Formats: sequence, C-alpha cells, structure tokens
Amino acid sequence: MKRINLIAGLLFLTGTTSFAQQTVTQPMSQLIDEQFNFAAEQYKVLDQRIPAGLTPQSYDAKKDKLIAYDIKWWCSGFYSGSLWYIYEQTKNKEIRKTAEKALKVIEPNKTFTGNHDLGFMMFCSFGNAYRLTGDPAYKEVINSSAASLATRYRPEIESIQSWDKSKYWKCPVIIDNMMNLEMLDWVSDHGGDARYKEIAIKHANTTLKNHFRPDFSSYHVVDYDLTTGKVYRKATWQGAANCSAWSRGQAWALYGFTAMYRSTKDQKYLDQAMGIAHFILNHPNLPADKVPFWDFDAPKIPYAKRDASAAAITASALLELAQYSKGKEKTEFVSSAETMLRSLATPAYRAKLGENGGFLLLHSTGALPLDSEIDVPLIYADYYYLEALSRYKKWYL
Ligand code: GLY
Repeated sequence: MKRINLIAGLLFLTGTTSFAQQTVTQPMSQLIDEQFNFAAEQYKVLDQRIPAGLTPQSYDAKKDKLIAYDIKWWCSGFYSGSLWYIYEQTKNKEIRKTAEKALKVIEPNKTFTGNHDLGFMMFCSFGNAYRLTGDPAYKEVINSSAASLATRYRPEIESIQSWDKSKYWKCPVIIDNMMNLEMLDWVSDHGGDARYKEIAIKHANTTLKNHFRPDFSSYHVVDYDLTTGKVYRKATWQGAANCSAWSRGQAWALYGFTAMYRSTKDQKYLDQAMGIAHFILNHPNLPADKVPFWDFDAPKIPYAKRDASAAAITASALLELAQYSKGKEKTEFVSSAETMLRSLATPAYRAKLGENGGFLLLHSTGALPLDSEIDVPLIYADYYYLEALSRYKKWYL
C-alpha cells in the first residue's frame, strides 16, 4: 500500500478549546524525515540534562526540571531505544555514541528480578541495538534479561506476576505485562531456551481468558490468589474505574496480542488484536484527531486530559496489525495510525526545539488517579512515536 489518506486535513477536537485547529498536509515521507531530524537535535538537548547514572522520564515545565529515575524504573530502556531509532534513520554518529552510553547505564538490569518490566527495559533498548548492530554482546544481555523475567512466572496461575505482593494486591497481573512477552518469544526463536516462549504463550492465554470484557476492552489489573490459582478480583490502578477502559492499557493489549500473533501465527491472538483495534477506533469517545483521552471512560470528557503515549503505542501497533490484515480493515488501520501520527506531529503535541526539557511529545498522562505525570512529556510516548514513524516508513511508503 503506497499512500493512504493523501489529503489529511486534521480537524482538531470538537468540543474543546485546548488544541488549535491544525492541518498537516505534507507527504508522510517528508513528515517522517523532519521528525527524525528534529529528534536528533532535540535529544542532544535532553542528553545534556540527564544526571549521571539515571534515565530520563519526564519534565516539570513549571520548575524547568528534568525528571530522571534510577535504572530499575520500568521506563529505563526507552531512552536508549529512542536513540537507536533516531540513529537508524539519521545515521548521526553522535546519537549512536549517546545510545551506546545509555545502554551501559542500564546493563545491570539484566539480572534484575524485581518487576515484570524487563521486556520494556531490556528489549526496547538492547533489542534495537542488536537489530541494528548484530553485536553478540547485546544478545547475551537480552538472553540474561529473559532468564530474569522468567523467574516471575507463576505456574499456579499460568502467568508472570507483575508487581510484588503488597497491602493492595495478592498476585497482580496487569494488562501492560503483554508487552514483555515479545522478548521471551524472541529469545526462544533465536536459539535461546524454548521454555521462555512457552511461558509467553501461557501468559497470553491466561490474559485472554481473564482480562477481557465481551466488548474487547480490558481490565487493568487481575489479582490472583496463588493458593487457589483463581482470580481474586479485577480492578484498576491507573484507570478511571475498575470497569473503565484505561486508554494506555487498551494500547498495550493491542500491541501485545499483535506481537504474539507475529511470533506464533495463532489465529486467536490475531482475532483478539482485531477486536481490540475495533474497540478503540469505533469508540464514541475517541477524539477526531485520534489522540485518546487518558481513559475512554474518563470523567469530564471532552475536557479530560489526553494521553499522547496511548496514541503513539496504538499507532505503532495498528501499523503492524495492518500487515496481517486485508482490504478495508488494512486501509482503516493504516489510515487511523496515519491520523494519529499526523496529529502528534503538529505543534499541538510536538515540542519546539530546545523546549519541553528535550522530549519530543507533549500531553501524555502517566497515572492520573495517583496524581502523577498528568499532561506531561513521557519518554515512552517518544519511543513509540519514533517506532511508529519507522514502521510507517518501512512498510507503507
Ligand atoms: N506500565 C505502566 C504504564 O503503562 O503506565
């Protein structure tokens, strides 16, 4: 498919005044090149602000303060991963050096077993580094990370435990965890222990059984009782309500089941991904620019905050799902992803050079009910934006 939606006039938001009406009509090839050239410059600004040994997460505009975290935070791999995507498109040597430096910072995570996020942390980073360089040392790090992640598999519930037991949860599994299966599949498919892929399949099947509602929306958290092996309760942590559709959770589910189909070719994963895509794209609360509110059931829509990260993840997933689709569905998935990317490329969402602490995108929401990361840049929004732009260029130009 060459070009979809050649004339993409984007009408921003009916019903709110927080975003100006904007139009982006340039060809996608030009838009994508511009975004990567911008990213190469903007990330030099970001790099200068990062304290040694930490990884960038967000930016507090009021205090002009970069928010950076310890490498054990689930987002620690997105910075180096973003740099590798920028390097791939620009061949900028300085960016590559920075990417290599960022990998060294997070390498000790390869033996970390304290959360389920090893896929995010080590595959978005070292996975891209290995894809682009073929350096066997990077593959070793990925193999070790998969072994660490596999320690969190709980046979009693046929799932990987997300967070440790706490006063809130017995054995929680969150929908986000679908994103960590890709690394397990990849390692088994590239000469590693076959058990990792078996774990990924078991986890995906349990998620399929327990996380979804009949309309293909998902619960955020399913809490299990390890002594009985049964579901204890279904709830949320970052969503508006236990019964709501937290937007980034729907994006993780879409991406995760699409990736599981890539690796297994099991039709039920593809059917699930299709159902989730239709849930998102046909939702009456999806705004005209297709950048979701932070929860599809958020109070105060259309005045609720957006989540640019959900748009970037969804766009990237839709572009892959379109690879496994035909006809009208394929056209719809690519054209919706294109609308999301064009929206994110406008000044309504894309920062200006030197601003936004050096991050690319504005207006993401991390955890609104926890009063955390509301309407801010987030490193993973940048990562999936760059990935989606790369995918569009690779498959649809
Ligand atoms: N995995 C945590 C989040 O999406 O916020």
